[in-house]
Amino acid sequence: MSGRDEVLVSVEGVFKHFPIKQGIVFKREIARVHAVDGVDLRVHRGETLGIVGESGCGKSTLARCVTGLHPVSAGRILFEGTDITRLSRAGLKAFRRDVQMIFQDPYGSLNPRRRVGSIIGDPFAVHGIASGADRKKRVQELMELVGLNPEHYNRFPAEFSGGQRQRIGVARALALRPKLIVCDEPVSALDVSIQAQVINLLNDLQDELGLTYLFIAHDLSVVRHVSDRVAVMYLGRVAESADGEDLYAGPRHPYAAALLSAASVADPDEAERTERIVLIGDVPSPIDPPSGCRFHPRCPKAAPRCVREDPELVSRPGDRADHLTACHFPVEPGERLAELQAAIAQVSTEPDLPEVEQ
Ligand SMILES: Nc1ncnc2c1ncn2[C@@H]1O[C@H](COP(=O)(O)OP(=O)(O)OP(=O)(O)O)[C@@H](O)[C@H]1O
Ligand SMILES: [Mg+2]
Repeated sequence: MSGRDEVLVSVEGVFKHFPIKQGIVFKREIARVHAVDGVDLRVHRGETLGIVGESGCGKSTLARCVTGLHPVSAGRILFEGTDITRLSRAGLKAFRRDVQMIFQDPYGSLNPRRRVGSIIGDPFAVHGIASGADRKKRVQELMELVGLNPEHYNRFPAEFSGGQRQRIGVARALALRPKLIVCDEPVSALDVSIQAQVINLLNDLQDELGLTYLFIAHDLSVVRHVSDRVAVMYLGRVAESADGEDLYAGPRHPYAAALLSAASVADPDEAERTERIVLIGDVPSPIDPPSGCRFHPRCPKAAPRCVREDPELVSRPGDRADHLTACHFPVEPGERLAELQAAIAQVSTEPDLPEVEQ
């Protein structure tokens, strides 16, 4: 645990908006997608920070900002203390050696016409590192490290199964011994039995090589298994972040509580013990996020203040300093949100009761 106090990545007030343009000759901006809308996060050296949240909440966009693939609209991302959003071309090239990405789709992310040996050796070619027999030797070592047969060096991706292809992606990501690996849904496309193998491989590699992971997934049980800390995102923001054990034992943000309650239903033993909170309504559009707390239209605890005031992501009284929640009325221990929600659903049809927008 020793290196875990050292901050490797610090995401500070990061925004990433995508303009939507219309017009044939003169394109003008008609709206913008607030994909990432003021995110603060820290990743410590040697840990895995899991990021969860519903589809479209900005997880991949944030991942792309952290790896330098997307320029940010505002804010800073410090990597070992250097702001990577303002790097020169040379600086960016050096940074790209330290940070690698593993993608969701092991089928689409590998060029089918290239041999596996040359795919894994790509980073060496890009950075002009090893060549010829030396490169081949290094690639075969990487193949062995991730559990692939080095003799399959000359095969094409189509000759490998989904799990093996993801191992190819992992080997390529490891080639330059990066400090941070951003895994964007690395096992979502794999069969459940294969998921465990790839996750175990990532865990073993982390221990062996001292890697730091930013691990994105929508499957909370996967995130729980791999993460030291977890950040829950909602509509471009972090709703709650905490030590994994802390978060799963007592989520404070009603959205995090709802997500966790939905996930635990899959486990029959836990479903007996846990209440289930069903979120009302769909995720609002990131083009026009709700005022105040952007979760308020779906929140069982929403009050007039939530419509007006945007809650800060801070540690709440009684919580550990690293347990941060962006909520005016966090869930208290023992509080039964499902009952509260049922009550609100009943009264929300009456005119002057809580200002909950539906
Ligand atoms: N290049 C782009 N141009 C315009 N809008 C974009 C672009 N990339 C992402 N978006 C929008 O930004 C929002 C966040 O998308 P993002 O892919 O980051 O979400 P996500 O949390 O990774 O979702 P998923 O779980 O489905 O992968 C979405 O509304 C998406 O449509
Ligand atoms: Mg995504």
